[in-house]
Amino acid sequence: MKVDGKPTRTIWLEADGLTVVVIDQTALPHRFATVQLATLDEAARAIRSMIIRGAPLIGATAAYGMALAMRDDASDEALERAYAVLLETRPTAINLKWALDEMLAALRNRPRAERLAAAYARAAEIADEDVEINAAIGRHGLALIDKIAATKKPGERVNVLTHCNAGWLATVDWGTATAPIYMAHDKGVNIHVFADETRPRNQGASLTAWELGQHGVPHTVIPDNTGGHLMQHGMVDLVIVGTDRVTANGDVCNKIGTYLKALAAKDNGVPFYVALPSPTIDFTLSDGLAEIPIEQRAAEEVATMTGLTADGRIETVRVVPKGSAVANYGFDVTPARLVTGLITERGIVAPTRADLAAAFPERSNVAANPRAAE
Ligand code: MRU
Repeated sequence: MKVDGKPTRTIWLEADGLTVVVIDQTALPHRFATVQLATLDEAARAIRSMIIRGAPLIGATAAYGMALAMRDDASDEALERAYAVLLETRPTAINLKWALDEMLAALRNRPRAERLAAAYARAAEIADEDVEINAAIGRHGLALIDKIAATKKPGERVNVLTHCNAGWLATVDWGTATAPIYMAHDKGVNIHVFADETRPRNQGASLTAWELGQHGVPHTVIPDNTGGHLMQHGMVDLVIVGTDRVTANGDVCNKIGTYLKALAAKDNGVPFYVALPSPTIDFTLSDGLAEIPIEQRAAEEVATMTGLTADGRIETVRVVPKGSAVANYGFDVTPARLVTGLITERGIVAPTRADLAAAFPERSNVAANPRAAE
């Protein structure tokens, strides 16, 4: 998508073909800055500290992290160490493990001398595939938006509500939840987005609003607790969110607060769609609530807020009294029964075990029989 009118991805290589460059998402929306990643540890830190975030981009960055590790040492031990270091950076988004497994499969049985080139090649493929997948998600989601637009009176806008940032910043390009939105906007559909602010890190207010603004998509940032009210008043036509992990039976784990939006959508008859690339499906799990690890992050993220002062400084201020306990669960699980449909690269899939397995038989078979993949 575009930054100041220039097509930009979220991750690319420096002219040396080895150093990885990412957008520093902690500086947005106030400053567009990039960060260079030259080592495994720098890649791991970028994921852990959320310089980059969003499930698909975490996967792509981890893939390049493995490639960076091969620069220093292409031994079996270094390969296993890089896998372990990157795997523990963030627990919830399954794209991380998926990408690391892909890298391991591409490198493990190769001679050491070939590993560096093979690692960069596979990481680049993972990044390119993400772009293609998201474009396909966009085309399938666009059909949904077109259908709603066709039932509207001339001049009426289609209102989409989204949570967190499942936009191009969370992926390599296009985004998942935002791909249908960008495509609808580009073809002239009168579309408007309600972006949940998404406390505590404000990915909606800071990132979704910024990227929609860069692309010229009309949008309104709302406090997290506003969506239910809007739905009760007929102001939301559909909800599209992203996800960090979907289980084999269609339970959806996404940024904390997603579940409440799904409840409100159900109560108000608003369609609730989840956009996802197939690497986000974890066919080894069958019960999202019981089995998906939910990241808990630092209390500071809740106890403080960071923003731009009137004189242009970025400052962090405390908003919770000292001494008050704080809880910071990063994600929640929306049960499959609350999900209208899953927008995937292979079309819109019902959130059921049978439909997911039918749409992605090669992935569900491997999960059922992991040795078949070896
Ligand atoms: O904690 P984050 O910012 O990495 O969480 C991101 C989300 O929850 C996204 O909505 C999800 O990863 C889907 S990204 C296409």
